[in-house]
Amino acid sequence: MRERKLGRIIESIETSDGAGVRLRRSLGAMRGLNPDPFLLLDEFSSEDPDDYIAGFPDHPHRGFETVTYMLDGHMRHEDHLGNRGDLGPGGVQWMTAGRGIIHSEMPQQENGRMRGFQLWINLPAAEKMKPARYRDISAAEVPEIGLSAGRIRVIAGRTEVEGVRAAGPVNPDGRMSTDPLYLDIALEPESSVSLLLPRGHTVAVYVFEGDARVDEGGQRLKAQSAGVLSDGDSVLLASCTSGCRALLLAGKPINEPVVQHGPFVMNTREEIEQAMRDYRDGRLTATQ
Ligand code: CO
Repeated sequence: MRERKLGRIIESIETSDGAGVRLRRSLGAMRGLNPDPFLLLDEFSSEDPDDYIAGFPDHPHRGFETVTYMLDGHMRHEDHLGNRGDLGPGGVQWMTAGRGIIHSEMPQQENGRMRGFQLWINLPAAEKMKPARYRDISAAEVPEIGLSAGRIRVIAGRTEVEGVRAAGPVNPDGRMSTDPLYLDIALEPESSVSLLLPRGHTVAVYVFEGDARVDEGGQRLKAQSAGVLSDGDSVLLASCTSGCRALLLAGKPINEPVVQHGPFVMNTREEIEQAMRDYRDGRLTATQ
C-alpha cells in the first residue's frame, strides 16, 4: 500500500468565459499540464450579478464531456437536441459532447449568489465522435456519505469510506472508459478522511473552502488551488484549523495526443480543422 502525496500545485487564475462570466481556472490554466483525462476545472462564485448575468449563450463542443456542478443559484441549460434542464443547488449536468453539441447555460436569477464548477473530461479517440448525450441530475440523486467529522457527496464513480459504500449517478459501475470519480468532500476542522483509489489513475484535489493537506507533514493546499497527486493506492485528506471543502477527482488516463482549440478537443490538428469547418457549415451536430 502506497499513500499518494501532493505533487504539482496549480493555483487558479482569474479569467472569464462565455459572454463574460468571471471565474477561477485551475486545471487547464496552463496548457500542456493537464492531468489526463482532465482538461479544465473552473469555479464560478459571486454575489455580484455583473459577474455572471451574461451567462454562456449558444456555443459548441466536440470531443469531450463537460460536467457542471452547482452549489448555489440557478442556471438553465438548452441544447440543439431539445433538452432543457434546470440546474439548482447540489445538482449536476453531465454532458457528453461527442461528435457535437450546441448549448447554452443561462442564469435564472438577477441577484444572489451563483456558485459552482465546470469540469472538462476528455474522451478517447474511439468515443470522440459518438452521439451527444445530456443528463440532468438532481441534488436528491447524489448520495451522501456521513463521516465521523464531515461528509462526502458522490457525483460519479464509486467509493468506500469508513465502511460505507456508495456509487454516484454517473459511472456507478466503473464502466466508463475514463472511469471518473467525482467527490465533494466537507471536513470539520482538524479532521481527516482516507480513501482507496485505483493505482495508475490520475487524482486531483481542488480546495474551495478552508485549506487542506493531502499527506501528513506535506505542503498545505490553500483554497482555490488544485493539487495533482503522485501515484499510489490511497489518499489521506486532512483539513486544517478552519475545516475544508474540496473536490476530489480521479480518472483513468487516456494517453493519447490532445489538440485543443477553444471548445473542440481532438487528437490531431486536422480533426480540429474539420470540427471548425463542420461548425461553420452547420454540420457539427449532424448525425451521419
Ligand atoms: Co458549454
